[in-house]
Amino acid sequence: MVSLATLELASAPAHRLTLQTAAIAPDSTAIRCLDWDRDRFDIEFELQNGTTYNSFLIRGEKTALIDTSHGKFKDLYLAELQALVNPAEIDYLIVNHTEPDHSGLIGNLLALAPQITVVASKVAIQFLQNQLHRPFGFQMVKSGDRLDLGNGHELTFISAPNLHWPDTMLTYDGSTGVLYTCDVFGLHYCDDSLYDEMPTLLEADFQLYYDCLMGPNARSVLAALKRIEPFAIGQIATGHGPLLRHHIADWTGRYRTWSEAQAQAEPFVAIFYAGEYGHSDRIVHALGQGLLKTATAVELVDLLDTDIPAVRELVSTAAGLVLGMPPQTAPGLEPILSTILAAAHPKQAIGLFETGGGQDEPIFPLRNRFQELGLESAFEPILIKATPTEATDKLCEEAGTDLGQWVNRDRTQKQGQSHNSGLDQALGRLSTGLYILTARKGDVTSAMLASWVIQASTEPPGIAIAVAKDRAIESLLHWGDTFVLNVLEEGNYQRLMKHFLKRFPPGGDRFEGVATYAATNGSPILAEALAYLECTVNHRMEAADHWMIYCTAKTGRVAKPNGLTAVHHRKASNHY
Ligand code: FEO
Repeated sequence: MVSLATLELASAPAHRLTLQTAAIAPDSTAIRCLDWDRDRFDIEFELQNGTTYNSFLIRGEKTALIDTSHGKFKDLYLAELQALVNPAEIDYLIVNHTEPDHSGLIGNLLALAPQITVVASKVAIQFLQNQLHRPFGFQMVKSGDRLDLGNGHELTFISAPNLHWPDTMLTYDGSTGVLYTCDVFGLHYCDDSLYDEMPTLLEADFQLYYDCLMGPNARSVLAALKRIEPFAIGQIATGHGPLLRHHIADWTGRYRTWSEAQAQAEPFVAIFYAGEYGHSDRIVHALGQGLLKTATAVELVDLLDTDIPAVRELVSTAAGLVLGMPPQTAPGLEPILSTILAAAHPKQAIGLFETGGGQDEPIFPLRNRFQELGLESAFEPILIKATPTEATDKLCEEAGTDLGQWVNRDRTQKQGQSHNSGLDQALGRLSTGLYILTARKGDVTSAMLASWVIQASTEPPGIAIAVAKDRAIESLLHWGDTFVLNVLEEGNYQRLMKHFLKRFPPGGDRFEGVATYAATNGSPILAEALAYLECTVNHRMEAADHWMIYCTAKTGRVAKPNGLTAVHHRKASNHY
């Protein structure tokens, strides 16, 4: 029997937030936060039908909450939760995924109920420790681990890394057959229907969501589908949209069909690492981010949780390999490493990293073996000697991007050659100035030569810049980030242009040998620039292979009042 209760919060219809609670199975309640008018999610995609953030409560002899909600639902959600259960009686918070739309209220919940033990994957616990800045009790769980809540509610955790974050796991309640999946199988669709009675209303949003969040990791989706096969699933309690009960085979079948097609069509990189060892999760996350910037699919393989046939198949079909050094002492590793070496072939690139676990396999002998086999090193071995920092993350992200560019080099070259039509030549006649973008974020700096720059508003003064998705500086140009736009001077730009057009190694210092001083926002100003603007990113729009970045300029200065901006004349649109 499903009971529904809806509470209205806002009177302004433009931002309607409501809340729905419903019994979904014995001792199991859904708390759905309905965000009716949200029109954009992350930076990736526009929403047509709002979204929901779903949280769940299971009451056995012990009480567990599964995920929380977005911070915007703080008052509604916490009031409803306290009406359902005394927070002091919640034993566990199970966190399937740590993005803020699900974890946004964990800090508030822990303030109300500090006795809660947070149950999550190792990487999720690490993310939460960085997010919450407060101590909390936790229990790290791996795939296959169980937690008995009593009254038959034994939970099984199923690892699903890369769907769409490395922290992701699924939680299965054996007594009710409910699989709690957070983002996985979700969709951004907001209405009062608790379940998927009308699939035709949902399928377009279901597919858009898959394409944006899950499609880039199609091989990881297939691995997760395999892991859930043994479970008798009566319903899928997703973190977004309606719960899936009436057409489960159809929805999971769509994930399988799309993922199989995607996995066959795309070159991919296989990353082998020891998931529970050292800082490998964090490094793999950063490498994966860099690979995704080049639209390269990634397959993650835990060296301590795989088998020889699967490794052989992956290594022989991957376009690139990454190997995180496992602990020398781990049992059963030698045949796995031998299989990787035996199946690797000269058409592949290889990248290696240390995990910082303290007892890593020596990295250089393995690098040498791969080189002897004819594999190309996509990046120099990454040596982790201390706890990773933001600079380490950036280095790893750039290494991932370099590998992704290597994997896609043939495709990129073909695209370049095909751009010689009248249209491309006409587009090439659009001329702009020459600029160097410089940015600092924490310990990380970056720079790039830019020419697709225009003034985009007068009040406030704003500019728009197109930045290719695989640029290193792109990750420093998100909403709220600051940077400097340096204007190059006609007759005095060749040296700077040449310098910033160079290919830098991952984590390389872009400013070595270049005179700079700090702007008030901290980014470097080039001493030789004709003028500069200090800017803040206000908006990002996806423009196919570029991000169109709109920013407001706060401060500006011209060094030479009579100087002229360097102008860039091109012959075709595929060249800057
Ligand atoms: Fe719904 Fe990845 O957060």
